[in-house]
Amino acid sequence: MKIGVLKGNGIGPEITEAALRVVDACGLPIEWVNIPIAEEAIEKYGHPVPPESIAMLKDVKIAIKGPITVEKGKGRVTCIHDDGSEHVYPSFNNAIRRELELFVCPRPSRGIPGISGTHEKMDLIIMRELTEDVYSAIEHRIGDVAAECVKLVTRTAAERVARYAFDYARKYGRKKVTCVHKANAISIADGFFLECFNRVAAEYPDIESNDLFVDATTFYLVKKPEMFDVIVTTNQYGDILSDLCAGLVGSLGLGPGANIGFKGAVFEACHGSAPDIAGMGIANPTSLILSAALMLRHVGEERAAEAIETSTRAVLSEGKCLTRDLGGTASTREFTDAVIERLRGTLAGV
Ligand code: NAI
Ligand code: MG
Repeated sequence: MKIGVLKGNGIGPEITEAALRVVDACGLPIEWVNIPIAEEAIEKYGHPVPPESIAMLKDVKIAIKGPITVEKGKGRVTCIHDDGSEHVYPSFNNAIRRELELFVCPRPSRGIPGISGTHEKMDLIIMRELTEDVYSAIEHRIGDVAAECVKLVTRTAAERVARYAFDYARKYGRKKVTCVHKANAISIADGFFLECFNRVAAEYPDIESNDLFVDATTFYLVKKPEMFDVIVTTNQYGDILSDLCAGLVGSLGLGPGANIGFKGAVFEACHGSAPDIAGMGIANPTSLILSAALMLRHVGEERAAEAIETSTRAVLSEGKCLTRDLGGTASTREFTDAVIERLRGTLAGV
């Protein structure tokens, strides 16, 4: 099985190495294929998201990815296709997702005993729409006086993400799907997202559904997280809410995620490249280790996925080997070693 590796930058290479070591400890026949991106791709192919790397990604279909730094005000990138057409994206990360037609970003948040305090029992998954909203790169400056950005909502994308969420709920025994929006203030665009959601919800009478405003949702997530099971939301709200949920579990370094399409999937943490701690060997690799578990489940390696999740959560709950974001002193490598030791025991049935 070939799996692509996009190391990213900042803490990307450190946590990618950790996640690969954990997966390797499961003894699966995986061949890791390095795929240049950002600086590495500029050096090799002269473009941060070059067609060569996209072709490699399309070939392997499944990849694990570290975060990539996007400079403020400088994220826009243009990708040129074989037919000469130009495609503009708001960031390198968005370019990878869109070039591969990845349309939903599932981000689970599950409380960890001993770590998550009042949020120990939180167990929800955010389905973030990934192809449009204000991240469509349809924006421009009007001289020095103004700037404008289009919030795009299409029926195809809104219904597709809703359908994915309901299918997921059925497959994994989730009971309720909540649409999060701002259809009071953004009544036409978010109103349309909600309308599409309700149309799809009617096709799934066996799954409970409801909807909430995004501002109230942030309050409920903090105060009554047990209200939520599956959340479906637009690109930007999903971006923000998933960082909030990772924080409620205990740290951004605990937030896994995936970018899923019909022809492939890229697995990455919900956080960024953490430049403030990059290169220090102290990042919490849990987010990418758990993303790797999602990846293994996606390719049908349920036993290994489950073992990685159980072992990682056990090391965290035990509290003896924690990285600094969780109040410990362990390095990325020490924490990863502890997870691998536990994983070997779990896989051996100890
Ligand atoms: P960030 O998520 O990188 O960091 C926010 C805070 O969380 C920092 O204090 C950081 O040290 C901490 N943190 C994040 N991950 C951690 C981990 N695994 N272990 C311990 N602490 C962790 O957000 P920030 O600083 O706003 O963004 C940094 C860069 O990342 C920006 O250039 C941004 O555009 C980019 N970014 C990239 C993403 C991607 O590649 N998918 C997603 C989000 C941001
Ligand atoms: Mg984000």
